This record gives sequence, C-alpha cells and structure tokens, in this order.
Amino acid sequence: MDRKQKKRPFNGYYRASVATEDAELTHTGPGTPAGEYFRRYWQPVAMTEQVGELPLAIEILGEELVLFRDLAGQLGLLHKYCSHRRASLEYGIISEKGIRCCYHGWLYDTDGTILEVPGEPENSPIPKKICHGAYPVEEYKGLVFAWMGPPDEMPDFPLFDTLNQLNNDMVPYSIDYPCNWLQVAENPMDPFHSVFLHTRVTRAHFNPAWGAMPVVDWHRMDGDSGIYLTNTRRWKDFIWVRTAEVYLPAIAQPPDIYQNPETEKFFPRVGITKWTVPVNDTSCRIIAWRHFNETLDQDGKGDRSNVGLGKVDFVGQTGTERSYEEGQRSPGDYEAQVSQGKITVHADEMLGRTDIGVATYRQLLRSAIRAVADGAPQQSPALNADGVIPTMAGDVIVAVPEADDDVALQREAGRAIGQIVRDTLLLSWEQRPIEIEKRVRLWVAERD
Ligand code: FES
Ligand SMILES: [Fe+2]
Repeated sequence: MDRKQKKRPFNGYYRASVATEDAELTHTGPGTPAGEYFRRYWQPVAMTEQVGELPLAIEILGEELVLFRDLAGQLGLLHKYCSHRRASLEYGIISEKGIRCCYHGWLYDTDGTILEVPGEPENSPIPKKICHGAYPVEEYKGLVFAWMGPPDEMPDFPLFDTLNQLNNDMVPYSIDYPCNWLQVAENPMDPFHSVFLHTRVTRAHFNPAWGAMPVVDWHRMDGDSGIYLTNTRRWKDFIWVRTAEVYLPAIAQPPDIYQNPETEKFFPRVGITKWTVPVNDTSCRIIAWRHFNETLDQDGKGDRSNVGLGKVDFVGQTGTERSYEEGQRSPGDYEAQVSQGKITVHADEMLGRTDIGVATYRQLLRSAIRAVADGAPQQSPALNADGVIPTMAGDVIVAVPEADDDVALQREAGRAIGQIVRDTLLLSWEQRPIEIEKRVRLWVAERD
C-alpha cells in the first residue's frame, strides 16, 4: 500500500487487509515446520480427571486422537481412526488390555500393537505388518502429557523446580480458546496489558498496584530456551520487581497472580505453570496448574474450588463464565486474545516499544523452528543443586526510599534484582530465596 494512503484519515478502503497469517509460526499440523518443532517437546493433552470409563476424543497439534485408560490401569493415546477401516476409537470398548474397535473387533494395546484381528484367519499377517498410531504418555500431578515426536528422540519428562515444591498444592485446570495458539502463548511477554486490560481500562482485576506503569526489560534465557522479563514498579515505600518467563515453545509461569506489594517479600514463586497447546490452527487449550501455598495470595483472593475443567479462579479467562455483553463491559484476557482473530495476521499489526517481548518471542520461535528443520539436536537444560530444571519467575518486594528520578531507580532495581535472580539460578530451592534476600539487601545498602 502507498505510505501516504496509510497515514490519511478515513483510509479504511486502503487498509482493508489482504495479508495472511505467518504460517511458519502458527501452523502446527503434522509435517509443518512449527508442527515438527512442537513435536520435540512433551505436551500436556488432558486432565487426568477427564480420563474416565469411556474413551476421550481429543485433537492435539491437528491430529485426532483418543485417550483412554485400559482396565489394567494403563493409559493409551492412539490415533482416533481404526487402522482397519477407520471407525473412530472413541466408540471403542475399553478392555483389560487396550481398546477394541466397535466395528470388527480389532484389539489395540496402549502402544498401538494389534493384539487381535478376530474376523481374520487365525494366522493373519496383519498384526505383524503394522502397529496402530500411538504415543507415549506420562501422568503427572493430575495432567496427562504426551510425546508426539519421533520415539527415538524422546527426552526425559522435564521437571521444573516449581513442580517439585514441598507444601504446595497444584490444582490442574484446562481452558479452551477458539483461536491460534500463538496469540495466547505470547500474552505473558506483554506485561503492559496488566496496566491497561487488567487495571486502568475498566477496573482492577487483581490489585490496584498493577495499574502502576512498570519499567520492563526482557532477556533471553541461556541457550535461547525462552525469555524472562523483569517488570518493576514503585508502590508506596516499595520497589516491586516481578520476574515472569516463557519457555519455548509455549510454557509460561506468571508469579503470584494475587500479589499485593505492601510488605517486603523475597522471591515467593509462581501462581501458575501453564502450557498453551495447539489443538489445531484455529483453536488451542491452556493446560496448567494453579499453585496454592502459604507464600502466595496473602489476601486470600484465590479459590481452588473454582479451578478445574474449563475454569480458573480469576476473571475473564474463559468464554463460558460470562455473557457476551458482560465480556464487552468488562473484557479480560479471553476477550482480548480471542478477538485478535482466528489467527492473528502479524502483517496488520503496528508493534511498539511495549511489544519487544512479543517480537523477541516470535524471533526465538522462528530460529528454533528452523533449527529443528535443519536437524539440530535439542539441548538438555541445566539442572540446579536439587537436580531439577531451575526457573526464573517470582516476586521481590523491597523497601527503597523514593528517588528524585524514581523511574531511573526502578530501572536500576529491575536490572540488579533480575541479575540476582538469574545468578542464583542453580542454587537449591531452599537456599535460593535466602541468598536472593541477602544480595538484594546488600544492593539496597550499597545505594545509601
Ligand atoms: S474399522 Fe475397526 S475393526 Fe474394522
Ligand atoms: Fe492477562
């Protein structure tokens, strides 16, 4: 389009979009570049509570699948359509070992082995000729994870430090979004939406302190495995530095969602660990845990009874909790992200300074997708002193007198405290907050 036309008022005619989505990042079906990339990571596919006495039909990464638990207790994740003549195994009969297709009785084990082809001759060669499509699954704390990549490349299930806490309740939940995965997954790298969508535009969804304009820096993790940001604000006598993170391809950890920065705190950790899982190119699902422990939510605003299938205990996260009109009057994350379109067209956006995190995330994804296409091996993450993968998200709230140039002070604090959080990454879970407090207090003392 002519640049002059783009700038003039009443230019709808010129700006009506003819652009298309960025398929390299947004399409995840079998054989697509991003689809191959996603298949190099364990993905959650359902909540354990969804796996009952009947098979569960699900779609993940554009593949139609059926998830079930056989009568011996073994979980199976199989291609949905029977290898014989394609009847759906969602109508299969769960057996002592595996699942039996309703149409002609073929029996499949949870690894796809064909155990019986009862209508065929006794020495039928069919069971030796093929295995039905199947994926390995692992059940962990109320979620079912699947490895949908090449079986010989399957890494260990990634155990993050935040999943390994003592005295922490992890309550699983799952929420559907009728839009592409990327617009949901990139939201945590945009902390400025907390100021506007979550506080100033209508009302405070969490705490009025979220409306204070933050000073934000984004950083790449070692090995470009993700991005973390420091989100720093002045709130009364305190400087509040919040680190949040996204690991590729689409794992995010926001700190305490009900954080109230009215007292000093040294690194209470995450309120949520969530995966954004592509269902197909125009729908996705957040499959996640809410964390509940005594270091979080000091005001008692959370409600674990409102966390589960299709629900979570904060406003504006689903398409079912409110009417369309209520969503219009008080929009939340769900309305903002789903309304970006079935697949947001990046060519129609106008990114600004506040979108550096989103732009960086897309860059990292693109390079990682291309690296997998080029056959680059996956890197193993570094482990901390407890032998698990250390993560970055948490809050540090410390009393610091207001400076004449307080924005400069906030920037300095964000950088110094963000560096301390990063430098203590490999310490044990127990040692790390102690060390963070010591180093942050030293930083404050040295400023006086
Ligand atoms: S279609 Fe499944 S056994 Fe024939
Ligand atoms: Fe949000």
